[in-house]
Amino acid sequence: MHVFHTISEYRYWRNKLPLDVSVGFVPTMGALHAGHASLIEASVAENTFTVVSIFVNPTQFGPKEDLSKYPRTLAADVALIEQQGASIVFAPAPSEIYPETPTQMIFGIRDLDKKLCGASRPGHFNGVVQVVSLLFHIVQPHNAYFGQKDFQQLLIIKQLVKEQHFPVKIIGCPTQREVDGLAMSSRNVFLSEREREQAKVLSAILFHLQKNRGSFASIESMKNFAYSALSDCPLARLDYFELLEENNLNEMPDLLSANCPHAFIAVFFGTTRLIDNLRL
Ligand code: PAF
Repeated sequence: MHVFHTISEYRYWRNKLPLDVSVGFVPTMGALHAGHASLIEASVAENTFTVVSIFVNPTQFGPKEDLSKYPRTLAADVALIEQQGASIVFAPAPSEIYPETPTQMIFGIRDLDKKLCGASRPGHFNGVVQVVSLLFHIVQPHNAYFGQKDFQQLLIIKQLVKEQHFPVKIIGCPTQREVDGLAMSSRNVFLSEREREQAKVLSAILFHLQKNRGSFASIESMKNFAYSALSDCPLARLDYFELLEENNLNEMPDLLSANCPHAFIAVFFGTTRLIDNLRL
């Protein structure tokens, strides 16, 4: 396995590949866990070569967000990637990706970026789309793998690829969970013991709603169930809980006529913000 830090090193490798191979790509911000490992595993199984990028993208963090404290664990990440059988780690410095102060790029992402995490983190998805399109230009993958935990991000990237005609197939992979249901995330390491204990409420709400969907008469009653479960967790501060149509994030008229209802939740524990989602 090679570790490249510059675009020119990567391009030298990429340009020598014959036309009949496939390149799978797993973009990450490092601090890798079993969720990332499952993306790499899927890519390794389906492609001749797998490229994993590690880049903590500054443009997707708001001014008051956790860019400087975002965990950076390059040596452990490289070891995990090698163990999963990937071919290349691409770990550029910020100055390599953004040699000049990046201009704000506005993409027409069909208002998919206006709700949920987009409403709570203005500009976040613009930064994600900016870096993912730069990485697609550099890496030139055939297939790219994203976790369904970031469901809104996945929808937005599919829209980006469609609008910008990237010749890349986007593959969404299932959320990986801890034994108690908590969705794996690089931010889980910031939780104190008590916060970690209460953090299982996110997935507990989602799985309860999924299992008992038929016993809820309305969207309102589902929301009330979520609010009541959260009120038992004094350390949890709700950011949003929404029930939306899965393919376009539109509001649902009611539960019966809804097309693929999907529940989305974001909760703060201190300054750590956790998200999860589930199809109901
Ligand atoms: O999901 C992430 O880790 C990031 O948003 C991504 C896709 C690597 C872009 O920085």
